[in-house]
Amino acid sequence: MKKALQNIKLSTLDSLRSHFHHIQTFKEANNSLMQLCGINDFFRNEHDFLLFLELLEPKHIISEDMERREFGDFQTPSILSDLVCSILLKEGFTPEIVVEPTFGKGSFIISALKAFQKLKQVYGVEIYEPYFWFTKFAILELFVENPHLNKPSIFLYCEDVFEFDFSHIEKATTKEKVLVLGNPPWVTNSELSTLNSSNLPTKSNFKSYNGLDAITGKGNFDIGEYIILMMLKSFAKHCGYIAMLAKNSVIKNLIFDLPKTNYDISDMTALRFDTKAYFNASVEASLFKCRLGRSSHEYICKVSLFDSPNVVESEFGWAGRKFVSDVDLYHDSKAFDGTCPFIWRQGIKHDCSKILELETMDGKYINGFNEELTLEDDLIFALIKSSDIQSPLIAKPRKFTILTQKKVGEDTKYLENKFPNIYKYLTDNIRFFTERRSSIYKGKPSFSIFGIGEYSFKPYKIAISGLYKKPFFSLILPYKNKPMMLDDTCYFLGFDDISEALITLAILNSSYTQDLLRAITFIDAKRPYTKDMLMRINLFKIADYLGFENARRLLSNLPDDISQNMTREEWDVFFAKDGKEQEEQFQYSLFEKASNRQHPTFTQSI
Ligand SMILES: C[S@@+](CC[C@H](N)C(=O)[O-])C[C@H]1O[C@@H](n2cnc3c(N)ncnc32)[C@H](O)[C@@H]1O
Repeated sequence: MKKALQNIKLSTLDSLRSHFHHIQTFKEANNSLMQLCGINDFFRNEHDFLLFLELLEPKHIISEDMERREFGDFQTPSILSDLVCSILLKEGFTPEIVVEPTFGKGSFIISALKAFQKLKQVYGVEIYEPYFWFTKFAILELFVENPHLNKPSIFLYCEDVFEFDFSHIEKATTKEKVLVLGNPPWVTNSELSTLNSSNLPTKSNFKSYNGLDAITGKGNFDIGEYIILMMLKSFAKHCGYIAMLAKNSVIKNLIFDLPKTNYDISDMTALRFDTKAYFNASVEASLFKCRLGRSSHEYICKVSLFDSPNVVESEFGWAGRKFVSDVDLYHDSKAFDGTCPFIWRQGIKHDCSKILELETMDGKYINGFNEELTLEDDLIFALIKSSDIQSPLIAKPRKFTILTQKKVGEDTKYLENKFPNIYKYLTDNIRFFTERRSSIYKGKPSFSIFGIGEYSFKPYKIAISGLYKKPFFSLILPYKNKPMMLDDTCYFLGFDDISEALITLAILNSSYTQDLLRAITFIDAKRPYTKDMLMRINLFKIADYLGFENARRLLSNLPDDISQNMTREEWDVFFAKDGKEQEEQFQYSLFEKASNRQHPTFTQSI
């Protein structure tokens, strides 16, 4: 009964809940159901009825959903799978073989059976037994209702796709026109680790990231990406197509890795669809479609809208040795794509905001639990977060943070004697530190933080939020003679001299930089602006094009007493340095080195 209720729409469950609100006995319930749907003796006994009432509780429905979360379960509505097949048909493609690696409730298999009349075989794999049965009965129903439909041989396996051996299908279909179809799970390995799930390929580090990359998020991948790569490994040399729904980030990664993986694919296209409308999901996704069996050695993906697949909106991919989000736009900006003379830094990471982030009220510090605290000021610094970076100048903070270390890995034993109040406060709340999930904190001194170093204490900073769609840079001033800090959603450059900060701000907010960023950033990513992206801004080259007068105009939105610090003399001195002096800034901290990893052959930019 539990599984059956799972297949009922939430709106139906809601009306059942209100219908059964006043019903006490199973006889009463059966009478009422007889009137509602004509079924006699709906519940066989009192036990059936009580179980039904228990299962109607929202907690059961939610816990089932949770169970399915680890399987990235977003079943494709048949209207969408039908449309995918019709797009392929319109292109004149009539497959003989269909492979669906995670068929779920089978909507792609059913659509393919309806659309492709030359199919000889269909192969499908699905881990979840109820869906395996659901699909079998749905196919049975399709042929009962349409006895004259072309009937291929259908092989359905209730297995884990990561354990499944596709080689026999691969060998048996080398001479046929193959279509790999479907919608692999939408879940990342890090979400799976939060769920303590083992629904992962055995080679979970399949991109061979080193330990630190894995720690800083680069090792995070979608299992859907792994499954599409599995399909390419088995079928790229066949004649045919792949047409699979995937998050845009997955498609971007596939194209990014293509020069390395070198699969024989061409005509790559991402057809953007409305995920909210089809899946009620708030993630950007597309139908990824490509031709199998030959490579054009052009690592570019066209982008179109699902409803007008023949109109190319833009193209992304490799433009020479650079990975870009818009090939056309990039054309005009490529002169500025180089290496930033300064090191962009990510702000402070501590994963303990309730304890380490403070506000002030009537001169007292308040933590995330609204507790009033008396703490030593020396270790408390103003903190700027992404949501604060909205104006060109930030002179006053909303929040504060306790800095337990001045550099990564510093011993924190000094706190006990020198800062007894802070030490007691942190020790009283130590469980919030020990419960931090990220492995970066393992084996590190108590109350460790990351993204901290000499550079954090530079008085003037130019900062950007990594999360926002539009690139906007702000000047951050010191507050009460202490440098302000940024949180780990932000990136910044630090300066000792306000004039250097102002010059850099003008260059970054110029249209040259903005156009370059538009051409290289993927704004639908969770974090469009990354350190890798910002490190590509060739500030000196842009300054050459911009010139002093234009730069000065760009600072006109700042108060005069601030903007006047950028004089022509300062401008000339700054560029006379030609970046050489800045080389000393290239002292990477442990944390930052990891996030600035270079691709072995191409410049890493995502
Ligand atoms: C996004 S849903 C899509 C289902 C179906 N392809 C469709 O388009 O409606 C992903 C499916 O992958 C299945 N799945 C998740 N992990 C799997 C695994 N390791 N092996 C096989 N199937 C898996 C889930 O049960 C779920 O049905």
